This record gives sequence, structure tokens and C-alpha cells, in this order.
Amino acid sequence: MSEEPRTSDREVRVLAFAGSPRRGGNTDMLLAATLEGAEVAGARIERYDLGELSIAPCRHCGGCAAGQGVCVVRDDMATLYEPLRAAERIIIASPIFFMSVTAQAKAMIDRCQPLWVLRNRGLPVATGRAPRAGLFLSVAGSALAHAFDAAGVTLTSWYWTLEIFERRELTFGGIDVAGAIREHPTALDDARRAGRELATWRAGE
Ligand SMILES: Cc1cc2nc3c(=O)[nH]c(=O)nc-3n(C[C@H](O)[C@H](O)[C@H](O)COP(=O)(O)O)c2cc1C
Repeated sequence: MSEEPRTSDREVRVLAFAGSPRRGGNTDMLLAATLEGAEVAGARIERYDLGELSIAPCRHCGGCAAGQGVCVVRDDMATLYEPLRAAERIIIASPIFFMSVTAQAKAMIDRCQPLWVLRNRGLPVATGRAPRAGLFLSVAGSALAHAFDAAGVTLTSWYWTLEIFERRELTFGGIDVAGAIREHPTALDDARRAGRELATWRAGE
């Protein structure tokens, strides 16, 4: 007799990072709408506000490379390695600061170096159900066509490290003052849909 899996076994685990230091700002609103969509679709959400956490920049001390791919720095980043390895969906929301992600987001990304060490040694990084998918939510004050390019290159490297091969993004230029995203005709609906689609995505679709 096969046992019906418990609800928690079927839930898609979504890890979300809020990378703006401006609480309640544009990327926060996009993230909230995205998570609303994912939750309605049955996902289990874990959200971290990077500006509220104490995450030091990587020191390039070599500790993770000398050992077993474990960071020697003891701060809030220690709590993020398990969800970073196990979540099936990872969302990062960051506005564009000087053409890239915020320092808060970049510090977390750089502290994924222990995972890069594992990946570079051919060891598994992802521990949850495969395949994984990533979503980048962003806004830029300017409407420059290349405003999101540098952040995208950084994320390519991060996703490779995390064994994420399905990547999505939802970005809006010309959004500067806090709350301007609310005036956009489709952004928050787009975000709700992106969250729902991320949660329900299956490989090969
Ligand atoms: C330090 C700093 C750097 C910024 N750099 C850029 C930039 O390079 N290009 C751009 O288009 N907007 C830039 N902006 C504008 C933000 O991307 C914009 O205000 C955005 O709406 C902030 O999103 P948030 O409300 O989620 O924090 C910058 C803002 C700050 C505070």
C-alpha cells in the first residue's frame, strides 16, 4: 500500500531574499506580490531581509577552500546555507545600485564562495528536489537599456554555483521614487503571475 505524501512533502520550497535597504520600496513591493502569487499556488515561503541580517563581506581567507567548503566566518550567513542548498526556488529582489545589485545582496552572494568550492570540486551543492529555478526581481531608476546587464552576469555565476539552470527575471526601468512601482500598469500583476508560475513550474514545460 503506497502512502499518500504529507502536504509538506509536496510543497515547493521557495527561498526569497529582499536585497534593498529601503523597506517597503519598489523591489519590496514586487517581492511581496511575487510571494503572494507563489503562496496562492501552494508554495512554502522563507523570506529573508538581507538589510536586517548581519552578513560580513567575504574575506577571501581561504578557510572554505582549505576545509570542506564551510565558511569560517560566524554571522547570520550561517543560517542561510541550508536553505540555499535545499530550496527548490530561489528569488532575489534587488534594485540596481551603480549598475549592479545592492551591497547587501552582493555580500550574501559573495559568501556563497563555500558552495562554489564544493561545485568546483564536482561535489553536489543542491540537496533538495531537482530541478531548481531562480527569479531575479529588479528595478532601476533610469530607463537605460543595459541597466540590468551587470547584475545579470553576477547572477549567472551565482546560479551556476547553486545548480540553478532555469532562470527568470522581472525587471522594470524608470522606477525611482519609493512606491513608483505601484503606478506601473502591470508590474504587480506581472509579479503575482511570476510567483505563481515559478511555484508551479515543472522541468520540460
Ligand atoms: C546608491 C544608489 C545607487 C543607484 N544606482 C543606480 C544605477 O546605477 N542605475 C539606475 O538606473 N538607478 C540607480 N539607483 C536608483 C534605484 O535603482 C531606484 O531608486 C530604485 O527604485 C530603488 O528601489 P527600492 O525602492 O527597491 O530600493 C540608485 C540608487 C541608489 C540609492
